[in-house]
Amino acid sequence: MSTLIVANWKMNPMTVSQAEKLFSTVDIGISAVKDVQVVLCPPFVYLDGITPNSVQLGAQDCSWKDKGSFTGEVSPVMLKGLGCSYVILGHSERKRELGETLQVINKKVLTALRVGLRPIVCVGESSQVSSGRRVLARQLRAILRDVPSTKVSNVIVAYEPEWAISSDPSSKAASPDLVRSSIESIRNVLKQEVGEKKASSVPVLYGGSTDSSNIRSYLEGGGANGALVGSAALKGSEFIKLVKKASLE
Ligand code: PGA
Repeated sequence: MSTLIVANWKMNPMTVSQAEKLFSTVDIGISAVKDVQVVLCPPFVYLDGITPNSVQLGAQDCSWKDKGSFTGEVSPVMLKGLGCSYVILGHSERKRELGETLQVINKKVLTALRVGLRPIVCVGESSQVSSGRRVLARQLRAILRDVPSTKVSNVIVAYEPEWAISSDPSSKAASPDLVRSSIESIRNVLKQEVGEKKASSVPVLYGGSTDSSNIRSYLEGGGANGALVGSAALKGSEFIKLVKKASLE
């Protein structure tokens, strides 16, 4: 499977013109890289009018409903209509700041898959002392509950330990060894749930303080199929460098 690099812009940048500039810088800058799939996930308001050439589009969340009276929500059908193929679901910032539960994330995953978006589901322990393996298994099982086995290969899992995400002032990037063992546990849970063959078709990414200097260690030492990138995705030149480092060409 080809390496997948997903840019999570979070609530950035602050203006349409900055968003357009960042988008086109990256879209042009990575155009020569053919062995890495790049997905940009800007805030909803910047998705309209974007015409990607080299990258694919994703959103950072979607509703658990595909239509109806749900004030403030954005349907995954609308996102598809704007050209999105992916949606990040269950990011730890949404769980922590907005109280999003595993049950709600599961509903969003089922709806996204039903309408044809690929969910990038985030799992990760909140502190370095908690029993990571158990936490990951519990989160993954709850988030993927009732996902039809025919749709499992459309799911992408992102391992994001909360303490490694750069928005936490005391954050520190996870070691490639920890990433490797956590990704192994994620793969074991997937195997138990859907069997070896289907489990091996699910890309597992790492996210948390990744940049151009450490990306290779997560792909090689960590065994990740790619990365979910936050702050390093907001600087065009740094993100392009990261994508080029992820490439084996
Ligand atoms: P970071 O964010 O790369 O800034 O640590 C990753 C994420 O929150 O998805």
